[in-house]
Amino acid sequence: MRLSKKVIAVAMASMMMVSMTACGNSNSEPAAAPAPATPAPAETQAAQEPAQTEAESVAATVAETTGEGGTVGVCIYKFDDAFMTTYRNALQEILEGKGYTVTFMDGKNDQAEQNNQINNFIAQGVDALIINPVMTSAADQIIATVKDADVPTVLINREPTAEQMSAYEKLVYVGCDARQSGTMQGELILDTENKGDINGDGKISYIMIQGDPENVDAQYRTEFSVKALTDAGMEVEQLDLQRGDWDRNKGQEIAQNDLAQFGDEIEVVFCNNDDMAIGALQAIQAAGRTVNEDIYLVGVDALDAALNEVAAGNMTGTVLNDAQGQAEGAVAAMEELLGGKTYASGEQSIYVDYVKVTPDNVADFQ
Ligand code: BGC
Repeated sequence: MRLSKKVIAVAMASMMMVSMTACGNSNSEPAAAPAPATPAPAETQAAQEPAQTEAESVAATVAETTGEGGTVGVCIYKFDDAFMTTYRNALQEILEGKGYTVTFMDGKNDQAEQNNQINNFIAQGVDALIINPVMTSAADQIIATVKDADVPTVLINREPTAEQMSAYEKLVYVGCDARQSGTMQGELILDTENKGDINGDGKISYIMIQGDPENVDAQYRTEFSVKALTDAGMEVEQLDLQRGDWDRNKGQEIAQNDLAQFGDEIEVVFCNNDDMAIGALQAIQAAGRTVNEDIYLVGVDALDAALNEVAAGNMTGTVLNDAQGQAEGAVAAMEELLGGKTYASGEQSIYVDYVKVTPDNVADFQ
């Protein structure tokens, strides 16, 4: 059933010959297209038809082959991650809906395990890979591996540097600019009636519950949420910053300890994602505090559970991390790569926008 890369390569080579639109360096597959080169006598009449006809029929072949029967290997850093579960489900629905044979692998938060999974996919001859790296620091190695095997690859969710990606022209990153989500979290606090300064002492006292700090999403959200406050002229005081590794239970523990230690001093709880915010909310409620009255709480992702809490007034707001949009973008980029597109250095990141979610617009996302 699976569509060999050669079929696509041959079809693309033909298209390029007809349309002459190929980029100079994108034909790295051997152009071993036997059929169109020297028509047999019986085909002479057909060969005299306008070139467009051939281009059209080749294009139809490509569309058919990329949409039906291609094999895709998807590596997720760990299945047990609330946001990546939503993302994975979206990817599965889109890919299967388009007729791809898709296999998902759970990296179990272990880069060595994920490396094996990537190698296995390559050995099986998948047409394309979609990879959510376990460690951003493993990007060089992952990119070298897929480049060596010449497998078109879309990286998702954990963004390498532009320089790292420039090593391979059949590689794209689809994700979001995490700075935007951090800024929006800060704006959610600035939009409250007292701009986060509940006790009126002239400064916003906050705790920061961070994701895995190796991840640029965690770094930027931590930095830009607070930067939005200081850029608006607010004074800030960080009471605590701890890594919760994107995990609900850790979010709950950190918030519980901080509430015990700092009590009413805490005016804002910033969480780098919603799952930790849901955990923090449990601690906030257990401590007898009330969100939007004596404490503010913001997350990122717009998980269903968080949307419910925003609607109920138990979270100040969240920021949509558009799993559906990113999954659609990842599949579209993958199809472009399968169609022969290559990416120039510096143009390998495709971003989907974040969106602020408050009680005013939460219904639009539920
Ligand atoms: C999401 C987190 C998720 C992480 C995984 C982030 O973009 O906001 O919820 O745990 O990606 O890498």
